[in-house]
Amino acid sequence: MTAPLRIAVTGAAGQIGYSLLFRLAAGALGPRDVDLRLLEVTPALEKAEGVAMELVDGAFPQLAGLALTDDPRVAFDGADLALLVGARPRTAGMTRADLLSANGAIFTAQGRALNDAAGDAVRVLVTGNPANTNALITQQNAPDVPADRFSALTRLDHNRAVAQLAQKTGSPVRAITRLAIWGNHSATQYADLSHALVDGRPARDLVDRAWVEDDFLPTVANRGTAVIQARGSSSAASAASATIDAARDWLNGTGPHDWTSMAVVSDGSYGVPEGLVSSFPVTTSDGRWAIVPDLAIDGFSRSRIDASVAELAAEREAVRELGLIPR
Ligand code: NAD
Ligand code: LMR
Repeated sequence: MTAPLRIAVTGAAGQIGYSLLFRLAAGALGPRDVDLRLLEVTPALEKAEGVAMELVDGAFPQLAGLALTDDPRVAFDGADLALLVGARPRTAGMTRADLLSANGAIFTAQGRALNDAAGDAVRVLVTGNPANTNALITQQNAPDVPADRFSALTRLDHNRAVAQLAQKTGSPVRAITRLAIWGNHSATQYADLSHALVDGRPARDLVDRAWVEDDFLPTVANRGTAVIQARGSSSAASAASATIDAARDWLNGTGPHDWTSMAVVSDGSYGVPEGLVSSFPVTTSDGRWAIVPDLAIDGFSRSRIDASVAELAAEREAVRELGLIPR
């Protein structure tokens, strides 16, 4: 009998947690049973206890285990998958840079705990912002875990881009393939349509350049801010859904014909400096990802990718200065 998939979820009492946990319990990652390990800070444990009560009350057939703790080593013990959601969200007027110092310390401690306690097969997906640099901090503080086990969430950006292109072309979302998010999960990200297909036809033949540059790119890049302004708090259900999509595809595979976007530790591909956690188009299979090779990058794409990667390099420098990663 296959053991349940042990999933650690941080920020269990938060907005994203409230959506994410119920989908995990309901089997959104596949038919395997799940054992959920919820992590919260001590003051939020009572609220998380309420969430745990509701999980029990769901009587989910695939929910084989449930535990709640404020100790990262307990939460990560033997984990196959760690979904690092818990962090302070951006509020109106805050930049991601403001979050670096606020949230960085969380990820040094969690990196060390993952290093000591996680299972041999662990995959670590960081949703908490600034997600790319938090993933970098986590990875750098977990030197015994292979670097390809860390990813930051840019699937929400990918999904937003797919949805915008589907709406513009009057197509179902399932008709959109080969879209790519490059760089940082921030307003500098680059949603690349140059290889995208709509029902097998090049997207560039279906939309004009002015729409791409003046509408599509800014809409996707600033969607998080637009949701904060409209809702009064940051995106939660869509972020949980994207976290599920990313984890499911990582563990189960994208299939050979489509790509997704994941921020992963760069091997230097496409001129992205080694070691930065940057988003790339990837395919996945058997729990592994591979950057889509040999794509032609035109001048416009190059300058947009470079701008976002420069922001990631500056964030890495900032967290080095703060002593959150080794020099
Ligand atoms: P929230 O404030 O509702 O919940 C965050 C929870 O994390 C809180 O319950 C808090 O107590 C908990 N937490 C804080 N420090 C913790 C720690 N050290 N260990 C465990 N838990 C801890 O926030 P939210 O709306 O759920 O958002 C969570 C994070 O996700 C934010 O950083 C937000 O900006 C980010 N986010 C990322 C994306 C993305 O696409 N990458 C999208 C939306 C939101
Ligand atoms: C989002 O993209 O919705 C989140 O990262 C929230 C934010 O701060 O933009």
